[in-house]
Amino acid sequence: MKFISISEAIKRGKGEVDIRGWVYRERGSNKLKFIVLRDSSDIIQCVIEKDNVSKNEWEDSNKLLIESSVEIEGEVSKDERAPTGYEVKVSKLKVIHFAEKYPITKDQSIEFLADNRHLWLRSRRMTAILKIRSTVFGAIHEYFRSKGFYEYHSPIFQSVQCEGGSTLFNVPYFGNKGVFLAQTWQLYAEPAIFSLEKIYTVSPSFRAEKSKTSRHLTEYWHAEMEVAWASFKDIIDYGEETIKFVVKKVLEKNLEELKIIGRDAKDLEPTVEKEFPRITYDEALELLKKKFKINIPWGKDLRTVEEDKLSELHDTPVIVTHYPKQVKAFYMKKSQDSKKEVVNGVDFIAPEGYGEIIGGSERESDIEEIKKRLGEDGERADEYNFYLDTRRYGSVPHGGFGMGVERLVSWICKLDNIKDAIPFPRTVLRYKP
Ligand code: 4AD
Ligand code: MG
Repeated sequence: MKFISISEAIKRGKGEVDIRGWVYRERGSNKLKFIVLRDSSDIIQCVIEKDNVSKNEWEDSNKLLIESSVEIEGEVSKDERAPTGYEVKVSKLKVIHFAEKYPITKDQSIEFLADNRHLWLRSRRMTAILKIRSTVFGAIHEYFRSKGFYEYHSPIFQSVQCEGGSTLFNVPYFGNKGVFLAQTWQLYAEPAIFSLEKIYTVSPSFRAEKSKTSRHLTEYWHAEMEVAWASFKDIIDYGEETIKFVVKKVLEKNLEELKIIGRDAKDLEPTVEKEFPRITYDEALELLKKKFKINIPWGKDLRTVEEDKLSELHDTPVIVTHYPKQVKAFYMKKSQDSKKEVVNGVDFIAPEGYGEIIGGSERESDIEEIKKRLGEDGERADEYNFYLDTRRYGSVPHGGFGMGVERLVSWICKLDNIKDAIPFPRTVLRYKP
């Protein structure tokens, strides 16, 4: 038997086909049995007629419970009444495994589905999201490689913090204290631009986020890049291009999946077609005041609510730059563009209230300034000596950004919660299965 996928069988539309997969739905009478079969590609209705198969096959078909795995030989033809418009008249049925009674039925609680995540992955919804996620990861690699970037890898066990001590995961390490899971590749990536100049990675990052929100995971996939000789504008341009490239790929490859999960693909088109608005932090404060009567004192970071308001004003991501130094990380370059104490740091805020999808900056080149700011954060500069060497031996203007891949997938798929953007989500309360 030469098996073809269900979508291939539907494409052929007629003639003999051999397909295999899992029972998605089943119902029957004493003469006729309907099975909706599922594989990774699609679903199709299969009919087993008592008179068309052997006695054994008929008996087997009546013992089939949902998620049993089967091989089927039969004739495919058009049938408007069938769920995907085609039907297979079964001539041979081979049961590979009789499933036990499947625990997932209709109308289960979110908690139950999370406990049974390993099974819920088989749902059409999760299958569609996982396909889109795969497109997104593929597109990120494709984009950076097409632009001449090298893929480079930082350690996950790290000895310094980069994005603030409060979200560090401390790990036991043969009795040594001060070993953490990576929050970012950055401090181990900057040293490598002196070797490779343009680098990127897609790797897990870890944040001990105690906040239970719909956009925070404790383990997430982080697409990061770092470039030598780059200006602040170069970094922002790369960010905009990356998002456009990824969304374009999803629109090319995943219209069917977007439909399955109920995401209107039209809502994503402006991101591909339009330039993203670029505003400064100061302009953001003005907009918030003028359009929403929200008064943020200068120097306060933008919170989720404010980011959401800004995202309401546009149908593409919004780029916010020049944040006050005190709300951003120690490595961001003090800006020459303003008399105020701002940094050449940037956040990309997703449309539709999905929050920050990219954070990046030009990097501070002044070693004394970096040491000073590390001190202000309560860090010991000597722990960062390896990093500070990047500013001692041939320092060049450079910068980079990090993109939260699940945040991106969440927005692209318009998910209620970031947890559905990753197969096995990790949050403060959820670390099983
Ligand atoms: O803004 P962040 O903290 O920036 C950095 O880590 C930089 N070192 C990146 C760089 O310049 N190389 O994180 C980057 C992105 C955020 O914009 C957000 O999309 C995502 O990572 N992110 C999270 N995603 C899911 N769950 C969390 N807890 C996240 N924390 C950050
Ligand atoms: Mg950030």
